[in-house]
Amino acid sequence: MTSRQLLAKPILKWAGGKGQLLPQIAPYFPPELKTGEIETYVEPFVGAGAVFFWIAQNFPVKNFYIADINPELILLYTAVQKNVEGVIQELSTIGADYGALEKTEQKAYFLAIRQRYNQERKEINFKKFNPAWISRAAQIIFLNKTCFNGLYRVNKKGDFNVPFGDYKNPKICDADNLVTVSNILKKTVIHCIDFSEIKDYLSSPAFIYLDPPYRPLSQTSNFKAYAQFDFSDSEQKRLAQFLAYLNQQGHKVMLSNSDPKNIDKNDNFFDDLYSNFKIHRIMANRMINSKASHRGAISEILVTNY
Ligand SMILES: C[S@@+](CC[C@H](N)C(=O)[O-])C[C@H]1O[C@@H](n2cnc3c(N)ncnc32)[C@H](O)[C@@H]1O
Repeated sequence: MTSRQLLAKPILKWAGGKGQLLPQIAPYFPPELKTGEIETYVEPFVGAGAVFFWIAQNFPVKNFYIADINPELILLYTAVQKNVEGVIQELSTIGADYGALEKTEQKAYFLAIRQRYNQERKEINFKKFNPAWISRAAQIIFLNKTCFNGLYRVNKKGDFNVPFGDYKNPKICDADNLVTVSNILKKTVIHCIDFSEIKDYLSSPAFIYLDPPYRPLSQTSNFKAYAQFDFSDSEQKRLAQFLAYLNQQGHKVMLSNSDPKNIDKNDNFFDDLYSNFKIHRIMANRMINSKASHRGAISEILVTNY
């Protein structure tokens, strides 16, 4: 691997992104990843893919499977996999147009792209890769780089509704990173599916990292980024059953989630749900809620079957 290839980092900023937590998570990866005994890596809630990109560049894994229920994310990864030059071309045009505008005009430009992106959603065929995916992928990256806090959030109708972010000089088209990411995606199988369907794609024993939407610690921390894909306690339970199934099938499994004990020492939701597995607690620098007084290091859980 050349040093240039080692640069691949997530294309998007994403709620629950694991980039900052990697140093705390990495010591818990199964040792068989390093030795090459595990040849397959699977991530069914891939989001921005911080863990996936890291593993792809640090371990001798041969087969990669990523999935997410969000069709926009899967469209983006597929477009970058199949035609990264096209995405770069579209995105650099958007970036150059945007960069040439005055601040006040930049906001209007952002709103126009956001409107077009929401309008075109109704026409796009998300099922099968087609040329329209290229410009949509460029729009998604542009909106992510220029919207408030770099978040992805949609309303109940499915419209992207994050306001303009007003950054000084956002790097809209990072062509080197897109090419590096594309090279990793070229050896990756990508699916838009519910997590449970990933079982249809598993043959040899794999390492499966599950990073579902976190169980909210409090009402105020319940960030509605995935409004279309609610992940309630019953979904957490369905996921726990799936983890038990993966365990029976001989896979190595790791799952991340919030730790309810930050708020209520007696809340044993995950300790009960995963009582047959190991539960590790790692420290994360996340907000419990929006009040500054409640920010700081809190614990998160990592469940493993090894
Ligand atoms: C916490 S994020 C993953 C963050 C990711 N590890 C990262 O570093 O960016 C959770 C992801 O789960 C996806 N998701 C929600 N419900 C799902 C389901 N039922 N099946 C598959 N993916 C789902 C969301 O679209 C979101 O991208």
